[in-house]
Amino acid sequence: MITVTVCVGSSCHVKGAREMIGRFNNFLTNHNFQDKVELKGAFCMDHCGKGINWKINEEIITSPSVEDGDKIFRKRVSEALEKNVVHKPDKRQRKT
Ligand code: FES
Repeated sequence: MITVTVCVGSSCHVKGAREMIGRFNNFLTNHNFQDKVELKGAFCMDHCGKGINWKINEEIITSPSVEDGDKIFRKRVSEALEKNVVHKPDKRQRKT
């Protein structure tokens, strides 16, 4: 499970955090990733003024715009889910 947390503090809110959450949620719904990615909100991440702040697991990402955040989110979530699949051991190979 990947956890994505978006700051909903006042500075990030005025930069578009709520719209970004909507876009993230649409992406997860359209790709049936809701059971693989938990989307949460959190208050100030102490990076105010630098853009919209959000996290993939514990890594803080600062996006200058909603569009930028959406693009990074799609790329990073897809990559993380792909890695999970690639790194799962193939049970058929273990029997040899
Ligand atoms: S309000 Fe988002 S980091 Fe402070």
